[in-house]
Amino acid sequence: MFASSLLRLTSDSIFPAPVVNYWLEQLNPLWSTEQGRGRVLEIHPAASDSMSLLIKLNRQARHWQPGQHVQVRTWVDGIAHSRTYSPIPVPGRRDQMMLTIRKTPGGLMSHWLTAPERQGNWMDLTPLQSGFERPHQQQPLLLLAAGSGITPLFSLIMDRLHQLNPGPITLLYWVQRHEQACFTSHMERLRARHPCFNYQIIATQTGNPQNKHLESVEDLMPHLTDPRNTQILACGPHAFTECAKKLAQQLNLPCFAESFSLPKPAQAGAPVQVFLKRSQRQVVIPSGIPILSALEAIGIHPAYGCRQGVCHTCTCTRVSGITTDLLHQRMEHEADGALRLCVSTAESDLVLDL
Ligand code: FES
Repeated sequence: MFASSLLRLTSDSIFPAPVVNYWLEQLNPLWSTEQGRGRVLEIHPAASDSMSLLIKLNRQARHWQPGQHVQVRTWVDGIAHSRTYSPIPVPGRRDQMMLTIRKTPGGLMSHWLTAPERQGNWMDLTPLQSGFERPHQQQPLLLLAAGSGITPLFSLIMDRLHQLNPGPITLLYWVQRHEQACFTSHMERLRARHPCFNYQIIATQTGNPQNKHLESVEDLMPHLTDPRNTQILACGPHAFTECAKKLAQQLNLPCFAESFSLPKPAQAGAPVQVFLKRSQRQVVIPSGIPILSALEAIGIHPAYGCRQGVCHTCTCTRVSGITTDLLHQRMEHEADGALRLCVSTAESDLVLDL
């Protein structure tokens, strides 16, 4: 209340907007009139290796859609770090979101963000137009999640089940062990409250031969409420989403899949010459590995966010040369084409607008 009165007062002031914004940010980072920001209200366990952060949002951080991503930027020891996560809506609270973060072994940001002492911290949040589109409210959905792929799909589940007359949703959720499954108590409550929602957790490392990886259409058939009119959405590692797409094709059903890993481990190949046009530098990097990592290895640090081809922070112009887009396994060579450095490898000498 006080903040919005102050904002109204200052927006009518005789001072230029950037000056007003500067002083508001000094008073409270969440009062920024330009930058999306959030403050961590609570941190609690979501699974054995994942934590959920409940975050209070300022106005600029509220323009995100369930199933899509936000870029989180924060400072660790004075150095800015960015990562991309899928937020989950908090029913009835447009001014809050939940971020569920898996603590990746050796990961800097995932451990830093989820430490209990981060409660009360604020972070920059930039909503991104990438990820899943909201499916039609009535169309039956079959959601296939593996590991961290659960977060955008759970976001869509929460969104749909809080609308009027939601269509049927079935979630198949693969984890290695049961204790790694997130949102289990939420999902149990949702299933009890919404007859249109069902789910199954498939823990592959329990010794139960029934709990196997996704392999064939027979794994999906029993879960299709309408075998001719179901939308399949899949999220997980690359091999998992490729399998989901192949099975959906066999079933003649539409499938939208998003993967958070590259198709195969990168292997350094023959060296190529790269001319960085803006900095007027000529460097040599190996082909075969993402250009972002190759440049970092020789001390050049372009801006990046997710390192997964999602946020587009690392996009630059390929003035000339041939690259491969690792996510789509596609060679690209048009002059002045946009290039995501984190998921592209060099196939020839290159000129980059960097
Ligand atoms: S760092 Fe996000 S797309 Fe490259």
